[in-house]
Amino acid sequence: MADLTYRILVCESFGAEGLALLKNYKKFEVNIALELKKAELIQQIPSYDCILIRSQTLVDRELINAGIKLKLIARAGVGVNNIDMNCAKERGITVINTPSANSISTAEFAFGLMLSLAREIPAARQHVQAGLWDRAQFVGCELAYKKLGIVGFGNVGRLLAARAKAFCMSVAAFDPAIEHATMADFGAEKLGLEELLAQSDIISLHCSLNQHTQNLINENNIALMKPGMMLINTARGELINENALLAALERGNISKAAIDVYPQEPPAKNSLLINHPKIIATPHLGASTEEAQKRVATLLAEQTISFFS
Ligand code: MLT
Repeated sequence: MADLTYRILVCESFGAEGLALLKNYKKFEVNIALELKKAELIQQIPSYDCILIRSQTLVDRELINAGIKLKLIARAGVGVNNIDMNCAKERGITVINTPSANSISTAEFAFGLMLSLAREIPAARQHVQAGLWDRAQFVGCELAYKKLGIVGFGNVGRLLAARAKAFCMSVAAFDPAIEHATMADFGAEKLGLEELLAQSDIISLHCSLNQHTQNLINENNIALMKPGMMLINTARGELINENALLAALERGNISKAAIDVYPQEPPAKNSLLINHPKIIATPHLGASTEEAQKRVATLLAEQTISFFS
């Protein structure tokens, strides 16, 4: 009897080390097709046993049902919000991901955005490149002794807390699933959401997207925030109500924001949010480091091999 070959479709950029592991595994035929439109993906997927994605490919009911041979959805990274998990379960398709492989990179990126907001580093760069030298425009603030509020105290939230403590910040966290004692171990004070909103000078979002967290940063919650606070989102775009954020930036309730993730990626070129002068906008870069991509790709490839063997 001929040996079984499983077909794997890689739909988004995936670390070379992981790709090599998959390609060298004798049972796999690996095809790479980046930037496919949904219709093209639906056309290709029926002949695949496994689809490998990051955050950009929407694996919805229509796509899953078109995957008549699909056995595994391999998600490089932490979030599975771009996959219809109910449909995968109904079809008996396994979903795997790499929950902590890119946490350090994302925490470091959120920390970088916090420094960038405090000292307006991106705007200062543009200023000098435009041939200007008005130092008075760029009087920032120190992070030391400011209160950082972390929403979601999983891997990334904890790593961010440790870094903030090293900068002499006071750290608080909101996460109903995590005990006081665990937060205390990482130097964070456990607060309710309202207290955290009211007390924090800077808030950084690190929770997953679900029915409870969608639109968490809305008009009502913004009204509870400390006037002039700064907001950072490296988690998921849908956590923030975009219109409420824009209005808060205009009123000054929120003085500045750093946004790495969007409800629709890439966002429209004329999006008011990415073009707003008080926003630092980046293209979903939290996990984009050599180290994280190597870790994520290796781990996911190993899990994929183990699944099919
Ligand atoms: C994640 O969910 O881990 C990231 O958003 C993955 C990515 O960068 O695509």
